Amino acid sequence: MNGNASPPDVPVIAIDGPSASGKGTVAQGVAAALGFHYLDSGALYRLVALAAGRAGLRLDDEPRLAALAERLPAEFCGSDILLSGEVVTDALRTESCSAGASRVASLAGVRTALLERQRAFRRPPGLVADGRDMGSVVFPDARLKVFLTASAEVRAERRYKQLIDKGIPANISTLLLDLRERDARDASRPVAPLVRSPDARLLDTTGMTIAEAVATVVAWFRETA
Ligand code: CDP
Repeated sequence: MNGNASPPDVPVIAIDGPSASGKGTVAQGVAAALGFHYLDSGALYRLVALAAGRAGLRLDDEPRLAALAERLPAEFCGSDILLSGEVVTDALRTESCSAGASRVASLAGVRTALLERQRAFRRPPGLVADGRDMGSVVFPDARLKVFLTASAEVRAERRYKQLIDKGIPANISTLLLDLRERDARDASRPVAPLVRSPDARLLDTTGMTIAEAVATVVAWFRETA
């Protein structure tokens, strides 16, 4: 691990889990409550998929996709995400980008190319990182690891509401099918599959509000101090 890019004394809270489990919302809430930085690692895979589409690359062309990931001209400015200076925050949330992200994320070359970029987010006073392999690969020494999940039906409903609120048309049964397909691909891929590491605490948010989930993670983190 690079000592400067990811100083081990800066605490990390790793929040991993399946699609639409609410990781992003909960992770941002925890980061705000503690005054920590926030890393949305899924956005990096989404950016690779979006940039690949724009460059006309096939989503299985590993060498070119890895090269693209290595020099991805992306910036995170508050809640906005920019690609080559253009705000692409909404474009990244479309279902085609989600599916593309899941495909490029199965390529080892792409994952390696994004590793240091992710670790560079670890800065004082701390970092909350959400994704699939935050606790297992990117920040194995995280102070707290959480595996956050919810039933597939509740996750499809949450994703549906999220898209409709953004004015993006959606169909709940298609979303449920897409989620199950993505869960299966994320869990079965040979590289950094989505698994609950033995040292991660399980948080099932099926019957929980966002505020309850945030409060639980903050309390768990305080227990580690
Ligand atoms: O919001 P949602 O959980 O659906 O997606 P996301 O967290 O933005 O991640 C998009 C895709 O990137 C996922 O389907 C994963 O395949 C992949 N991903 C990953 O492989 N590793 C990460 N650390 C984060 C995302």
